Amino acid sequence: MKNRELTLNIFRYDPNIPGREPYMQPYSLQETEGMTIFIALNQIRENQDPSLKFDFVCRAAICGSCGMLVNGRPRLACKTLTRDLPEVITLMPLPVFKLIGDLSVDTGSWFRQLSIKTGAWVHSDKSFNPNCQEERMSNETALKIYEAERCIECGCCIAGCATANIRDDFLGAAGLYKIARFMVDPRDERPEEKYFDVVSSEEGVFGCLGLMACEDNCPMELPLQVQLAYVRRKMALIGFRV
Ligand code: FES
Repeated sequence: MKNRELTLNIFRYDPNIPGREPYMQPYSLQETEGMTIFIALNQIRENQDPSLKFDFVCRAAICGSCGMLVNGRPRLACKTLTRDLPEVITLMPLPVFKLIGDLSVDTGSWFRQLSIKTGAWVHSDKSFNPNCQEERMSNETALKIYEAERCIECGCCIAGCATANIRDDFLGAAGLYKIARFMVDPRDERPEEKYFDVVSSEEGVFGCLGLMACEDNCPMELPLQVQLAYVRRKMALIGFRV
């Protein structure tokens, strides 16, 4: 492989400095074998510009911290190989989320308010008995819950979603996926009607325009549209009943 000279045009902005305008800053570096955007950013920060802000924790597509727009598409920096990109690469922060600085955004607060809004925990009236036997569930149900737990909350589906970009209150694919996770969990005693207020509006399933960008941009390749259709069907059935 012939290593190329890459140019990374990176969005720079510090919202904490009054009067500071955002700008694009170009950095050049030599591509190396197996280089990811994350490795390139680290090299820039170590060798050229220690002030560059971006987020990461795991470097293995697990923590969901390193989402950013790579040539206009929401991607994980640690999972995106430079060899799959042209020599000139543009990096921008994910839209929708609050900008901390440069490529760093606050997805944590966004997902926390989503968890509170959707009640993303097992709701049960049973009191805790440390001596009772653990409840069993079928493998099929456990696998469904496991699948719905694979979301790493990176925000790529939200950043690529047309509705989320124009509506602050839209739950987005990540929110509806979270709801589907609790709907399939037999330990959650919430009646389905309980979800109706949160989900059955333009904030929820009926705000989706069906453009499929969430699923196209999900780095975990989650079946977001399948789960959305599942929640939508459930809500439509309840709508007929109430
Ligand atoms: S650094 Fe954890 S997902 Fe990229």
